[in-house]
Amino acid sequence: MALTNAEIDWNQEQQIARIIKRTRFSQTKTLKSFDFKFQPSINQQEVLGFQDLAFLKKKENLVFIGSPGVGKTHLAIGIEACRQGKRVLFINCHELLLRLRTANEKDILECCISRYARYELLIIDEIGYLPIGNDEANLFFRLINARYKQHSTIITSNSDLSGWVEILQNPAVTAAILDRSVHHVHVVKITRKSYRLKGVN
Ligand SMILES: Nc1ncnc2c1ncn2[C@@H]1O[C@H](COP(=O)(O)OP(=O)(O)OP(=O)(O)O)[C@@H](O)[C@H]1O
Ligand SMILES: [Mg+2]
Repeated sequence: MALTNAEIDWNQEQQIARIIKRTRFSQTKTLKSFDFKFQPSINQQEVLGFQDLAFLKKKENLVFIGSPGVGKTHLAIGIEACRQGKRVLFINCHELLLRLRTANEKDILECCISRYARYELLIIDEIGYLPIGNDEANLFFRLINARYKQHSTIITSNSDLSGWVEILQNPAVTAAILDRSVHHVHVVKITRKSYRLKGVN
C-alpha cells in the first residue's frame, strides 16, 4: 500500500527526531525561536546564513563567544545540520577531554581521535568554564589537528580567543589550537546580557 505524503513526512520527521536524539544535544532549540532583537550585537543575517551549511562544505569553523546565558549553545546550529542528514556530534568540552584522556590511558587514543575526526560537524560546547590541564590541552590539539581542513567544528566559549591561553595554560599548544581553529572561521561575539536573566534587573 502506497504511503500518503503526510505519512512520508511523518516518517521523515521520526527519523530526524531519532538522529537528533543520537546527537545528544543539551537543548534542541532552533534558530526559529531565537529572539535576535534581544541580542542586537549578533549579525542576524550571518547567523541565519549558517543554516545553508555552506561552512561545512568549505570546512570552515564557527566560534560563538559570550558570557553565560547569551544564547551560544542555542545558536550552535547543529539541529539544522542533522535535519540535512549530516553526521553531527554535540559534546561538552570537559566530557570530550575526559573521553580523550580515558582513551589515552587505555592506549586507544588514535582510534578515539579518528572516530571524533570523522563527524562532519563536531560541536564542542563550553570551552573555558574549567581550566584545561597540560596533558588534556595536548589531546585537544591532536583532535583539532585531525579535524583541521577535513571537517567543520563549532566551539562555544565564555572567553574571548585572547583568554584561551589562560584556559589551556600552555602558550605553545594554545597558539597551535588557535591557529587551526581560527583559520577559516566565523567568530560570533555576543555582547549583551543573559537571556536567562531576561526581566531580572
Ligand atoms: N535571544 C534569545 N532568544 C530566545 N531564547 C534565548 C535567547 N538567548 C538565549 N535563549 C535561551 O536562554 C537559555 C540560555 O541560552 P544558552 O544555553 O544558549 O546560553 P549559553 O550562552 O550557551 O550559556 P552558557 O554559557 O551558560 O552555557 C536557553 O534556553 C536558550 O534557548
Ligand atoms: Mg551553553
